[in-house]
Amino acid sequence: MTAQRIDDLDLVHLPIETPEFAADPTPWLEKARARHPWLATSSIGPVLTSYRAIDEIMRMDDALKMPGGEIVAIMGAEGTGWGDFAQEMMLVREGQDHQRLRGSVSGAFGPNNVKRMRPVMIETISALLDEWAPKGAFDFAEFAANFPVRVMFALIGGDVSKLPAIISSLEVQGTSFNMIVEDMPKIEEAYQVLWRFVDDLIGERGPDAGKGDLLDDLIAANTRGELTDKELRQMLVFLFGAGYDTSKNLLTLLMNTMIDHPDIWRHCAQDKEYCRLVVREQLRLTSPSNTYRVTTRDVTWEGVTIPAGTMLLFPLGISGRDPTLFADPLRFMPERPDRTAPLAFGRGMHICLGQFLAQANVEEATHLIARRLKNPRHTVPAQWRSFAGVWGIKSLPIAFDPTPTHAPEPA
Ligand code: HEM
Repeated sequence: MTAQRIDDLDLVHLPIETPEFAADPTPWLEKARARHPWLATSSIGPVLTSYRAIDEIMRMDDALKMPGGEIVAIMGAEGTGWGDFAQEMMLVREGQDHQRLRGSVSGAFGPNNVKRMRPVMIETISALLDEWAPKGAFDFAEFAANFPVRVMFALIGGDVSKLPAIISSLEVQGTSFNMIVEDMPKIEEAYQVLWRFVDDLIGERGPDAGKGDLLDDLIAANTRGELTDKELRQMLVFLFGAGYDTSKNLLTLLMNTMIDHPDIWRHCAQDKEYCRLVVREQLRLTSPSNTYRVTTRDVTWEGVTIPAGTMLLFPLGISGRDPTLFADPLRFMPERPDRTAPLAFGRGMHICLGQFLAQANVEEATHLIARRLKNPRHTVPAQWRSFAGVWGIKSLPIAFDPTPTHAPEPA
């Protein structure tokens, strides 16, 4: 049987750029799946709607590339610092070049190293809670913004007085792949702030500081000639961005879910192991990262041919809502028996390098936050970020019952 061309299919159009879609994509997704089992369309290009299509097609590294150059052209950013970054960072590299860059940092993000970082995470989140919990009400997204970046600062020895400037620059960077051309001047300005920050950090550290942290590892790779000076700086900027928005959003999404599940939230305060299941279930139900690829050759899957040069959207953030794999997929059920691995961290050669760090961060945070912020409730409705790129909640004002600092661990 010959394959059908994607252009000949009558697919449901997903309005991914609208606030309504960002706030609740499910009705459109269900309509799309009723029309075709794994494809829909959007203003960006075809959208893969089934878990299996995302899982299998995203692994076709030889047929896909990250559209770095295309995005820079759309943004008119050729020749800018951000333009170079978007075309040279690890996520857009391929083959051996990608392996070299990934190899220079992969050791630092392995499960054993992450285990050693847990005390830093606990210390960081506890200090933040001491500062924020007495308020009784705040925007949880703002609170969460401080957490992953502080852990990164602790891991590379950053000066915390620079945090506010770094956080606001990372916020701007986080929107850069939404492809809004008018935002380009502020994106470049934010990129320059981040570049100067990492450049100072490297200069202050010097070649032989012997701290044995992530920054030392990267500087050593540079000294051995495995990373150029520019790559070293781009890598640090990339790691800050990759870890910031995603982890902050995951934590905020989780809090949003917990407001509707007070029993689960109480259980999180009692049992850190249980938090692991809760974080995993959140990653299945709604996760923060959606991504793109351009096909570099014709791809045929399940009887449909997608021609070379097509921009595909991989909606990882809702990939776990697939009813063919998960029973009652919209129900938040940490103990669900159908525990297929979530796609939240991607697939293929660019699968998230920070996934163990991110999960450990959010698990530790969930347990400690649940112990300090009891009975969380909305004060005004949450506001959502746009769906393409890093998705999630941009504002989550909540009130809660604070508990005293250093409440004893439950027996
Ligand atoms: C909940 C938190 C996180 C989520 C949902 C997430 C998600 C992802 C996804 C989906 C990708 C693949 C993107 C693609 O292929 O287009 C990715 C790549 C990556 N992530 Fe994460 N991420 C998270 C946290 C982190 C953290 C904390 C770090 C490190 C500080 C990190 C570092 C990276 C790196 C370096 C890559 C690129 C890997 C490569 O190109 O080989 N991520 N992440």
